[in-house]
Amino acid sequence: MPAGTRPTVVDWTADGRGVRVLDQRALPRETTWLDCRTTAEAVEAIRALAVRGAPAIGVAGAIALAAAAARLAETRLDPSAFAAALGVDAAALRAARPTAVNLPWAIDRMLAVGAGAGDDPRAAAAAMRAEATAVRDEDRAMCAAIGRHGLALVRDGARVLTHCNAGALATAGIGTALAPVYAAVAAGRRVAVLANETRPLWQGARLTAWELAQAGIPVTVCADALAATLMRRGTVDLVLVGADRICANGDVVNKVGTYGVALAARAHGVPCYVAAPWSTVDAATPHGDAVEIEQRARDEVARPGGLAIVPDGVPVENPAFDVTPAAYVTAIITDRGVHRPPYSFT
Ligand code: MRU
Repeated sequence: MPAGTRPTVVDWTADGRGVRVLDQRALPRETTWLDCRTTAEAVEAIRALAVRGAPAIGVAGAIALAAAAARLAETRLDPSAFAAALGVDAAALRAARPTAVNLPWAIDRMLAVGAGAGDDPRAAAAAMRAEATAVRDEDRAMCAAIGRHGLALVRDGARVLTHCNAGALATAGIGTALAPVYAAVAAGRRVAVLANETRPLWQGARLTAWELAQAGIPVTVCADALAATLMRRGTVDLVLVGADRICANGDVVNKVGTYGVALAARAHGVPCYVAAPWSTVDAATPHGDAVEIEQRARDEVARPGGLAIVPDGVPVENPAFDVTPAAYVTAIITDRGVHRPPYSFT
């Protein structure tokens, strides 16, 4: 979405005492915002996907923890009680969703800045406020850089298939996977996007389609099951997806279904690119099998929109993410450039 028309996805509340998120559960029907002024409210917003997408939950966690520090500092706790209470809030935020590395990355960064500010809780809270704002601003800048680096991969007339939503709605900026699309359109190229619907929570149908339509970029929503056929027909020039975690060996953890898209792309000679900010690169995790995959509620699959489609008593599997082995990824676009195998993410 071009700057200026982009809604605030994640930021400070107007009074600076909490985190404001665009409530993505309501899209595309309604555009409403949620102000979270307690840690419990922020945790619930992240857990329930009111705010979602790896970079956006990192920014939300950073602002929520800075706001928590400010509230705690007002109660004039002694330094050790302040640190202990802040640790409880940090642990709750970190546990809200386990797979995207951006959330613990942001929480650790905030705690380190707070601890480095000395013994005065008010000084720690002030330093954390500035750091949370920096996390937000850096995310915006990283998205823009991904767009610049990915621009060469999106030629005039390109047909791009994407899965889930890794656009402006998933970040504080223009997105990751969609950043090269926005950059190409800004450069005057014609680009059409095929958005996988992305079951069970429909991030492609509800969110990617919404933000691209708002931006005036042609988008067609496709059933997830159609992706391989589109590639066999030769109507996809490239795949562009985001990531929740990129491991040291280049394995990519992203929305469930990404692996199947990557396999189909490989089978049909379609390049498959992953775009993510450096905050999604987890050099400490050697490979995808070492990543905890979030398991979500049965009803997301069994009762979409409240309609029971699975017989009672029949179990459902609902992992939110899958692992795409590095071998099926053509290249990884970050704010630092276009990385090709063998990767050295250190
Ligand atoms: O469960 P979600 O909607 O948070 O999943 C989001 C994804 O899988 C995105 O592709 C990923 O976080 C990258 S967002 C820039």
